[in-house]
Amino acid sequence: MRIVISGFGTVGQGFAEVLSLRSDLLNAGGGVRIVAVFDSKSYAVDENGLDPIMLIERKNATGSVGTEKLSSGIEVLDSVGYDVLVEVSPTNIENGGDGLKNIEHALRNGKDVITVNKGPLALKFKELNKLAEKNNAILRFEGSVGGAMPIINLCSENLKGEKITSIRGIFNGTCNFILSRMDGGLPFEQALKEAQQLGYAESDPTYDIEGIDTACKVVILANSVFRRNVRFSDVSITGITSVSEDAIALAADQNMVIRLIGEVSDTVLEVSPRLIPKGHPLSISGTLNTAKILTDLAGPITISGKGAGRKETASAILSDLIAIMDRRR
Ligand code: HSE
Repeated sequence: MRIVISGFGTVGQGFAEVLSLRSDLLNAGGGVRIVAVFDSKSYAVDENGLDPIMLIERKNATGSVGTEKLSSGIEVLDSVGYDVLVEVSPTNIENGGDGLKNIEHALRNGKDVITVNKGPLALKFKELNKLAEKNNAILRFEGSVGGAMPIINLCSENLKGEKITSIRGIFNGTCNFILSRMDGGLPFEQALKEAQQLGYAESDPTYDIEGIDTACKVVILANSVFRRNVRFSDVSITGITSVSEDAIALAADQNMVIRLIGEVSDTVLEVSPRLIPKGHPLSISGTLNTAKILTDLAGPITISGKGAGRKETASAILSDLIAIMDRRR
């Protein structure tokens, strides 16, 4: 399985590291190798396989993953034979950015794609899936919602026989961290700074605090789990910038916390700060993500896990990669 990695920030590096950690498993499936990688400035190509650890070291030492200057990702994709594009460049919710172009290009050429890039999925979910279908390509995106928390594949594979009536959850670690720190009396700005230092926040943290990141995830769940045909602009979004310290103190007086909740069902598509009783599964603190899935036969199922992080998000990509290897075998 020949892989191209597009984007070599936290997630791209985490995936390279995980590939090297799981080399035995992957070699057993006929061998996985990274034949090309690019970031915003540079690229490296080697049909025989690039050493993942060397790539991480070079990125850390020079700020670039490759030695060649990048003119476009599509040129790199056209220059090398590959089977799977792992697209992990930063989210762009305005127009999907280069990430969207690279995904479309790969699918158009019948290549399988794994992405955690929320912009392209939130803007063009249906189009990308149609493109994949038309070209007999597989598009998987487990890590785009909830990071290591396996919500998409759980709903669409393990819970296949269920009628899922709603999903409510915490899908943004940065907001949850900020709100939890505010529960302890820390001002918003300071809590945001701490969250950024933890490396959870998006490149543009307004995506987190204005609810945009959660809205992207709600759209992805609506389209993939509920088979709806919605876009980012259909979501009713309120972020956490309007949550005052007074509101948090008032909630605490009533034994409640305020959490940013994303909700999706056949009719609901909403992101808003809500009052949650302390002790409720959705009252969790810190950077964890959690989701309460209501089903008709199995009843409520609650899951939680690390919503972001280097190896954590890479674990979701790895599960998608193994699923693709199984299907292609
Ligand atoms: N910025 C996101 C978060 C990262 O804070 O949860 C994962 O999508």
